[in-house]
Parts: sequence; C-alpha cells; structure tokens
Amino acid sequence: MASNGTVADPKGHKFDPNFTDAVINATGPKATPRVRQLTSGLIRHLHDFARENELTVDEWMAGVELMNEAGRMSDDRRNEGQLLCDVLGLESLVDEITYKLALSADSEPTATAILGPFWRKDAPQKSMGDTIVTGFEGAGDRTYMHGIVTDFRTGKPVPGAVLDVWHTGPNGLYEQQDPGQDDMNLRGRFTTGEDGKYGFYCLRPVPYPIPFDGPAGKILKALDRHPMRPAHIHFIISAPGYKPIVTQIFDRNSKYIEDDAVFAVKDSLVVDFKPLKGNEKAEFELPYDFRMATFEDAKVHSVKGTTEESASL
Ligand code: BEZ
Ligand code: FE
Repeated sequence: MASNGTVADPKGHKFDPNFTDAVINATGPKATPRVRQLTSGLIRHLHDFARENELTVDEWMAGVELMNEAGRMSDDRRNEGQLLCDVLGLESLVDEITYKLALSADSEPTATAILGPFWRKDAPQKSMGDTIVTGFEGAGDRTYMHGIVTDFRTGKPVPGAVLDVWHTGPNGLYEQQDPGQDDMNLRGRFTTGEDGKYGFYCLRPVPYPIPFDGPAGKILKALDRHPMRPAHIHFIISAPGYKPIVTQIFDRNSKYIEDDAVFAVKDSLVVDFKPLKGNEKAEFELPYDFRMATFEDAKVHSVKGTTEESASL
C-alpha cells in the first residue's frame, strides 16, 4: 500500500503493465535465439526508457527524424549512423565488449580501438621504408614510424603481418573528404618479413573534428560538446593464424587527449613522438611494437553462434 492509500503498481509505473511483454511475445518461433535475445532486450530497454522519461510524441518524432536524416546523408563516403553511435560512445563500448580478452595482465596483446568510418579497403601495397605521404609539401611533420610485430605470448616475430595504416592530412581531412588530396593518399599496407619488423614514413597526425554538419553534430551541440578527436593514426594489423587488431595510437602531446569526442583513447595506446636527427626524410620518429594474439588465445566474450546470426539480421 502506498502512502496515499493506493495500491502500488508492481511494475513501478502507471502505464499498461502488460504492454512490453505483449510486444516481446509477438516474436515468432522461427526467430533465431540470438535475434530473440537482442530484440527482446532492445524492446525492454526502449520501453523502459520511454516510460521513465515520459517521452512525448514530439520528442520521439524528433529522434525518428534524426535517424532518417542520418540515413539520407549516408553513402559509401560517409556513415552518419556510425558517427551517431560514436558520439554516444557505442562503438567504443562494443569494441571493448567484443575484444576484451580473457588473459593474464602481465602480458597483453595490443589494445584495440574503434575502426571509425574512414577506413577504405584495398589501400596501396607498399614496401618497407616507403612513405604514405604525397603532397602537403612544407606542411605537417614528417615522421618515421617503426617497430616489430610479435606474438604476445612467445615474444617471437610475426612474419607476413600486414599493417594497414591511415591518417588525416595536416588539414585534418581524410583523402576521401578532401578533393585536394590524391586518391588513397595517407594510406598504405606494409607486410613484415621473417624478422617481423616494419618501418614507413607518414606525418605526425593532428587533432581534427569529426564531421558535425549532420545529426551527430546536432547531438553534440545539444549536449554542449565539441567534435574534436586527439591526433591519432589508425591501424589494422592482420597475420595468418592471428586475430586481427583494429586500433589507433594517440599522440601524448595532442590537444583533446583527455577529451576525445568518441571516447576511444586507452592509456596503452598513447605514444611519444621523438625528434629525429640526421634523417633528411623525417623530423620525428615513432617507435612502436604491436603484439598479436592467436585465434586460440583471443577467446572473446561472446554468446555462442552470435556472429553469423546477427550478421543475417
Ligand atoms: C576516426 O577516427 O576516423 C573517426 C572515428 C569516429 C568518428 C569519426 C571519425
Ligand atoms: Fe581518425
């Protein structure tokens, strides 16, 4: 009995107590277990959210319009739906859930970080020691990045590891955003030899804003947040028998290192660019080693059979 003499609703709210279960129970017998699990949870959380906040029709419609606008803006050069998820921290959270490894803390593979919307497949294949930079003469700090790819357990070099790398120009734009850059500029794929070593020339990256002229920008504005990412370089490291690593490294001295608009910075991915003397091709060097886990080691936290079933949603 509540203090005002009425009987408290067992569901703790004043709305139809059976509605959410009715919607969930409409799922048919042919839905796969994973689809059933995901949609039931989603419906329950969405309904709870709407009830707890007493969401109005106008507010719900504004959300629908935001999603529609994101859809209209998206194409093979721009993924506004992903950007929306990024500013809400969802890509970073899903990355953590997917790749958190059940491993001892004394030796760990390289941490992952979000892919982001600007990766392109088929980046140019390069030889060790090549540069990924064309143009930008007199702009940006040339950097020699080098290191070794190892097996995190044995410490042995990983031969045949492919480092797929990409970053923005000194103007803060990826080449597909920038008509002034050559196609595939500031991207490259490098394959390690028997010694697992790699080295290439790039630019010291700069902080840049994620695109904020669409729904993601509207959310940022409404939340009184900035759109800036700290300076970073993206990588996908893959090698036969090893779990690919999608990651980014972040310049310790960059503005926004403590305040990334998409929440992707992890301590172990923060690096130091060092002034380089005696190399006419670069003013900085960046030593960094990547540690890979085999598929066996990289047992991820997942519900059995999820990947294929969710992919077919
Ligand atoms: C990026 O780092 O490329 C990125 C990540 C999330 C949103 C936008 C850009
Ligand atoms: Fe980026």
